[in-house]
Amino acid sequence: MTHASKKPIPKIGLLEVLRRTLFAGHNERVDMLAGLSRMHDEQGPVVMQDVGIMKMINLFGPDANRHVLLDRERTFSARRPWMQIMGRIFPNGLLLQDGAVHKHHRKIMHIPFKRPALREYGDRMNDMIDERLTAWGQAAGKTQFLAFPAYKELTLDMAASIFLGIDLGSTTRELNRVFEDLVAASMSRVRLPIPGLEFHRGLKGRQFMLDFLGDLIPKKRAGDGPDMLTRLCHAETEEGERFSDQEILDHMIFLMMAAHDTTTSTLSSMTYELAKNPAWQERAREESLALHSEGLGLDEMDRLESLTWVMKETLRRYPPLPIIPRVATEAFEFDGYEIPEGAMVVLSPIHTHHMDAWWDDPWRFDPERFSPSRAEDERHSHSWVPFGGGAHMCLGFRFAELQVKVMMHQLLQRFRVRVPDDYVMPVQQAPISKPRDGLPIELLPL
Ligand code: HEM
Repeated sequence: MTHASKKPIPKIGLLEVLRRTLFAGHNERVDMLAGLSRMHDEQGPVVMQDVGIMKMINLFGPDANRHVLLDRERTFSARRPWMQIMGRIFPNGLLLQDGAVHKHHRKIMHIPFKRPALREYGDRMNDMIDERLTAWGQAAGKTQFLAFPAYKELTLDMAASIFLGIDLGSTTRELNRVFEDLVAASMSRVRLPIPGLEFHRGLKGRQFMLDFLGDLIPKKRAGDGPDMLTRLCHAETEEGERFSDQEILDHMIFLMMAAHDTTTSTLSSMTYELAKNPAWQERAREESLALHSEGLGLDEMDRLESLTWVMKETLRRYPPLPIIPRVATEAFEFDGYEIPEGAMVVLSPIHTHHMDAWWDDPWRFDPERFSPSRAEDERHSHSWVPFGGGAHMCLGFRFAELQVKVMMHQLLQRFRVRVPDDYVMPVQQAPISKPRDGLPIELLPL
């Protein structure tokens, strides 16, 4: 680290932070991207939000993403900010670990994400999506179809089946309800274990999950099912490293959380873009039909070129995790600024994805920007970062891609999705991007 050049960090004080969040126009309050863009445009690539004891430092742009995510000098902790956010509900998840402990756990966790395992999860995804679309087909046209809650239910059911190997039924419904409590509690503002409060329900939910999964583990250790929990129970590195029962419980609960809202978010945003852009919808449908297969396997998914670009463009415009936090464990220099030890450093994929220095006409939906001839995402290694990067890069990104593509491949072959011409999806960007109105769509059987 050098201390030679130090520029003063532009600062936004507590009053200004409050003014911007409480008294700004309606849009800015809900539109995190507008707020971040304004900060960057007015004050530059490094801006401190000084809110009393906590100094939050926004670092903008792909160089910042690369510096922090690759973390070559081991300066940043993922554990510290994520513990503050979700530590009481999801302790010991992979994202809540740093350094050597994280490396050791990630090596074992990687095992149930290898290609042969993904291939088998894909088979189950195809069967479940096929059944669900048949049910949606019966409802289609009769009532307004709300895509977001429908995807939420589907991803929870898929988690029960693919992650835990549980048959759908009353247990799954109970599990899904409890799981919703857990996620709500991890986002709740009032974190007091008082009966009646969201947070208290979350703590009870966590205990329920621990008991429920704890009872499953002996069976899974003895069994050889294709689900992720069984694979995690058997996972062993070449050096003979394995997880204890408690480690499996913590990782499993965290995995379900990491997988669920992010995938639901992507499915919803992508459905919206396909409905808004019928030419792209048609193009993706033609490629799916040309495969001559109702289902989609892991080995075929890269052949759906248009769907691949549409998915990347969707993740560029609506990254499910709009910001990525870290805590600086020592002072460091970035772009001539010295950032103090202990600062909460915030990266903003959502902002980087809309910088006109890196993207042509960034506010336009234009999947072709990901084509080999344009390859805008290759202008910088860290300009497209919906899955983060470095040691903590999303472990489930291929799993997510498979799930989203299987869904879209089957959906496009059965239905046309439509929204009124003047409809604009109202997006809640934080903490996880989602449509505020549930995304009402028309599902028209083909
Ligand atoms: C489109 C869907 C998804 C998106 C956009 C996404 C995004 C991310 C991001 C940005 C991170 C890094 C956060 C950070 O560095 O602070 C992350 C980490 C992680 N994700 Fe995902 N995720 C998705 C789906 C999934 C799925 C389906 C799974 C599991 C099946 C999963 C499992 C994980 C895990 C375990 C980590 C922590 C990795 C580590 O700390 O080493 N994610 N994800």
